[in-house]
Amino acid sequence: MRGLVLALACVAGPGAAQDFAEVGALFAERCVVCHSGADAPLGLRLDTLEGVLAGSENGPVVVAGDAASPLLQRLRGEAEPQMPLDGPPFLDPAEIAIVEAWVMAGMPDGDVALAPLPDRQRPAPGEPVRWADVEPIFLKACIKCHSDNSKLGAPPEGLRLDSLASVLQGGERLAVLPGNPEMSELWRRVVGLADPRMPFDGPPWLPEEDIRLIRDWIEQGAPDAEGVAAPIPVGAQVRLRGVLTGEAEIDGARFVIDGSTRVDDRPRIGDEAEMRGVVQPDGSVVAERFRDR
Ligand code: HEC
Ligand code: HEC
Repeated sequence: MRGLVLALACVAGPGAAQDFAEVGALFAERCVVCHSGADAPLGLRLDTLEGVLAGSENGPVVVAGDAASPLLQRLRGEAEPQMPLDGPPFLDPAEIAIVEAWVMAGMPDGDVALAPLPDRQRPAPGEPVRWADVEPIFLKACIKCHSDNSKLGAPPEGLRLDSLASVLQGGERLAVLPGNPEMSELWRRVVGLADPRMPFDGPPWLPEEDIRLIRDWIEQGAPDAEGVAAPIPVGAQVRLRGVLTGEAEIDGARFVIDGSTRVDDRPRIGDEAEMRGVVQPDGSVVAERFRDR
């Protein structure tokens, strides 16, 4: 392999071969936010030359001299989802040409030694959790579907998870109620309380540690990068489907039933129930509809 790489590099001629320096810098800027660490998507690490050459769990992503290498196809959008996954913007033609020239030249290393990035640090239980701590989870495990670059064509249920603002906005209904994980469909989906469990292409599900991190982040008010908690989304629509665990409580999520609530076929504790409600200024949820399922 090494011999082949060197041979091809020589064929391209000294000076003509694009070495890894520029390619590595490009990957560092646009790829390693996801493609690094133990949870790199499909096991593909792009933080070192060794990682690039090792490829993914599907095999090599660059093949010396092959313009149809999987990685190049992803950059050009010939294989979906297009990379970088958090685009647009994607790489411009000049940047793609740099990577292409390097692959065509047989992936010469150019004596560039990039140190592997360390694994993602997770705040310990009880420590503050900020957006920056949970963002990589969404980038690596969710936005291939929940973004405008979705491999499903459009983000399911209109839910985008590619920025803090989108996560807080939710889709057709609220996904995160700051301060209240039980009432947050997003936590319910990743922990498996609501069906279908997320990520949709799992198992594997998220590691326990990441599920805990998402829960703590929501419980602490879904703070931004500076630690400022999110505002209460007054008036947002919520839907809960699960097991009635109290008079007005589904899977531990409490809501308010009042004179305005339309109750059909009142569920009993232990029954499958559905509640549709609206978030109030104090963060509570008043049920508009409550029924047996
Ligand atoms: C926001 C996160 C993110 C960024 C940034 C990103 N990727 Fe990806 N990448 C993914 C995910 C997630 C997948 C798996 C998609 C799937 O399951 O289809 C993937 C898949 C790939 C694959 C396919 C591997 C295979 O086995 O088929 C290649 C190649 C790839 N990425 C290259 C890149 C390159 C090159 C960049 C930077 C220019 C980049 N990615 C940036 C998240 C990202
Ligand atoms: C392979 C595609 C895919 C991936 C990856 C994925 N989802 Fe989903 N997601 C879906 C689909 C499809 C639905 C709609 C399913 C349904 O309710 O029938 C959905 C629904 C949801 C919903 C419910 C939205 C609502 O209003 O009912 C939430 C919340 C959600 N996903 C969160 C996540 C999170 C968090 C991740 C990452 C940990 C994730 N998803 C990863 C495809 C995906």
